[in-house]
Amino acid sequence: MARRVLYTHDQTQARIAEMGAQIAEKYANQVLVVLCTLKGAMFFCTDLIRAIQRANKGVQIRLDFIQVKSMKGRMSSGKVEFLTEPRADMAGRPVIIVEDIIDSGLSMFETKPLVQERGPSSIEIAALLDKKEARKTEYPCTPEYAGFEIRPEFVIGYGLDDEEQYRELLDIEVIEGEAA
Ligand code: IMP
Ligand code: MG
Repeated sequence: MARRVLYTHDQTQARIAEMGAQIAEKYANQVLVVLCTLKGAMFFCTDLIRAIQRANKGVQIRLDFIQVKSMKGRMSSGKVEFLTEPRADMAGRPVIIVEDIIDSGLSMFETKPLVQERGPSSIEIAALLDKKEARKTEYPCTPEYAGFEIRPEFVIGYGLDDEEQYRELLDIEVIEGEAA
């Protein structure tokens, strides 16, 4: 098994600061529902909200969570399981779904309608990582905010796991070789 750093914690933080500034500019003085997809996006979502706050544009955040499971080992299982559903009042409000990584596109493709049926004024997706080349045509999905576009390699750290291991790593790393 080999591991190599893809983005250091500092590189990730610098990019998130830019994303936060962009989001804060767009939603200045508005109430914004931030829907964090657990568990992977937990660290990213926390730092993104802080970045929005630092931009000081008067964005009022309403934070909510959803737990989505789609992976079997290092592969997409082909189906999405919602372990928890959103509870926040989204009617007439803009929503940003915060995701750690988009791979085949299936998770976001299935999550969006779940949000849509709650009547938000708009839905956007902020993904830290986008494996654009891995996208399946059946699940079209383009995040409005993407941190880094990466090759279709398996990554860990900063919330991302390999069978629940490595979420605590500060850096984002590529892992090769045998699955955990
Ligand atoms: P999708 O549904 O195929 O787009 O896959 C997205 C979900 O699979 C993400 O929310 C992650 O939880 C997980 N995932 C996809 N690629 C990776 C990876 O390289 N490392 C860790 N988790 C991943
Ligand atoms: Mg995820």
